[in-house]
Order: sequence, then structure tokens, then C-alpha cells
Amino acid sequence: MYSYELKCKTDSRWIEAVMADFDEFLIDHAANERKAAMLALSMVVHYPDKEHIVRDMTDLAMEEMAHFREVIKIMLKRGLQQKPDTTNFYIGSFMKALKKDPKNYLLDRLLMFSIVEKRGAERFGIVGEALAESKIKDFYQRLAAAEYRHFELFIELAYKYYDEQRVKKRLNELLDVEAQIVQQSPFIAAVH
Ligand SMILES: [Fe+2]
Ligand SMILES: [Fe+2]
Repeated sequence: MYSYELKCKTDSRWIEAVMADFDEFLIDHAANERKAAMLALSMVVHYPDKEHIVRDMTDLAMEEMAHFREVIKIMLKRGLQQKPDTTNFYIGSFMKALKKDPKNYLLDRLLMFSIVEKRGAERFGIVGEALAESKIKDFYQRLAAAEYRHFELFIELAYKYYDEQRVKKRLNELLDVEAQIVQQSPFIAAVH
């Protein structure tokens, strides 16, 4: 009932960049899962008075760490190492667009995380389709479904804590922001 659509589809040049350097994509992907777990944990710490957030974000942190564990094992099998974290254009630009004042920050974060998870679900689905039959293909298809659930989780939390009209209006604005960022992003072997 809270579902919505992203305002642009990922360009096919993105999957071309990913498939051209899949090792690099795996390294970025692992970092993304680790950062998602840390973000979920930071929500647990920042909102101790909000029971739904504490409960859901604790579960989410564990699930994202389980994803990290799976990607890091694939990396280690291929002899790949993690690289130092860098600021990602997509996430960095999206963060800049958020309202940081106490009245708006939580709503904006929930909506941003929902949109980022939805984009992740779309892209892992594309990766799953592009890969030849293999354990890694199955993994990305499973992951697409998991990130789709996370998109729903965050939007449901937004509706739990804020009124419907306000959520819809801000969601629409942030979907525009996200579509613009996606269209400005370079095509690189990275999730975003
Ligand atoms: Fe994940
Ligand atoms: Fe996720």
C-alpha cells in the first residue's frame, strides 16, 4: 500500500560498466553492505525513544552484516581486498539534499534510505539477470528481493511516524532529487 516507483530507470551503460570490471563492483558492493549495517546501527543509537526504529534497525543491521559476510567471502575466494572508503557521488549528493533540522531530519533519512534501497533492489536485479547461471547469480537475485523488503521497511516507518500528506509530498520531492542525481552519475563499476 505504501509502494511507489522511482522516477528514472538505470541506464544500460551502468550494467556494461559493472560487467566490464566485476571485481571492482564486488569491492564497492561489500563496502555498501557494511555501510548499510553501520547506518542502521546509528539509527538505533540516535532514536532510543522510538521503539519501531530500534527494533527494525537492529534486525536490519544484522541482515546487512549477513550480506556483507556473503560478499566478502566471494571477494576472498577471488583474492580481492577491500579498499579505503571514498565518498560516493550518489550518496554524497543525496545527503546534501536532506533537511538536517530536528523537525525534518528523521523523515528525510527514512525516505532517502527507502529510495536508496529501492535503487539497490533494481540494480541487484539487473546484475542477477546479467550474470550467467552460477551461485553468484542466485545470490544477486536473492539480494534484490531483500533490498526490496528494505525499501518497504523504511517507507512503512516513515508513515508510522509522520502524517500521510507530509510523507507523500516530501517523498515526491526526494524522488525528483534522486532521479536527477542518477542522471548525473558517472557509469562506473559500483552499486551507485
Ligand atoms: Fe543489503
Ligand atoms: Fe538493504
